Amino acid sequence: MSFIYFLGRFHVLVLHVPIGIIVAIVVLEALARREKYRNLEAASPFLWGAAALTAIVTVVLGYFHFAEGSFGSASGVQHRTFGTALGVLITAVALLRLSRFARNYAPVYFPASVLMVLLVSITGHYGGNLTHGSSYLVEYAPQPVRSLAGLGPRRPPVTDLALADPFLDIVGPILRQRCTSCHGTDTTEADLNMTTYEGVMRGGETGGTIAAGRPEFSELMNRITLPPDDEAFMPAEGNTPPTPEQVRIIEWWIQTGAQSGVVLGESDIEVSAEIEALLRAELGL
Ligand code: HEC
Repeated sequence: MSFIYFLGRFHVLVLHVPIGIIVAIVVLEALARREKYRNLEAASPFLWGAAALTAIVTVVLGYFHFAEGSFGSASGVQHRTFGTALGVLITAVALLRLSRFARNYAPVYFPASVLMVLLVSITGHYGGNLTHGSSYLVEYAPQPVRSLAGLGPRRPPVTDLALADPFLDIVGPILRQRCTSCHGTDTTEADLNMTTYEGVMRGGETGGTIAAGRPEFSELMNRITLPPDDEAFMPAEGNTPPTPEQVRIIEWWIQTGAQSGVVLGESDIEVSAEIEALLRAELGL
């Protein structure tokens, strides 16, 4: 099975080839409608054929990749549906374009190529949700656009350390920066969703993610302090890890009870001079 997974990961590389060819096709089909560029048409059957072949390879690799699990979210299923439809349609058009009857259907190819670009965009959007999470695109959008996407108001930037919530303003943003692409709502590795405080505290499938007050017994802390070449080191797959300063901040947060719903100035959370300096640097104060 692991060889299938190995091949499956090439999906994210190979998929760019049919996309490039589809873009070339739409440009070619548009130009070839003009008398001046009519001779471009000669390349059309070749391009449709190449698009279909590479799309089929991409779809097959996509199914291999899907087999790894953890892509079963709504975005994952929609990505698979639209990607499969794209592969089937493009193959059908290519077969027609390469057939003896190709000339009879000349008016079809340009609209068909536009439809392919549309399908590529939709498929790519859902695929993007899988790698970045569905809120990625609109994270910095104006609030009305965020509301449309079901996102509440962004927390205003912290201007006074005493008013900062230790999770919502400090640790949450670090996890969102480094971990939620795999441990989020669209991709939820090990059943661990770190987009919310509740999700972090609930933990992952193995449990023991956060032991409040005990960083040394917290799996999350364990994973980010292993040697980077350890198989269990997080973030996985060579993704950019939190800085040593951010790791220290996470440790302090767990040590002081892994709290949220309080502000530093009105809580019993101890902030040493060392931590205060780290927090100020992290928040840009
Ligand atoms: C590239 C994807 C990816 C990124 C990014 C990532 N993880 Fe993971 N994580 C995984 C996978 C896959 C597993 C399951 C395999 C394992 O346990 O090692 C996992 C498992 C875990 C577990 C164990 C959960 C359990 O209960 O089994 C913890 C804790 C964890 N990750 C923390 C983190 C933290 C903290 C970050 C950010 C610093 C992070 N991960 C970033 C892919 C990732």
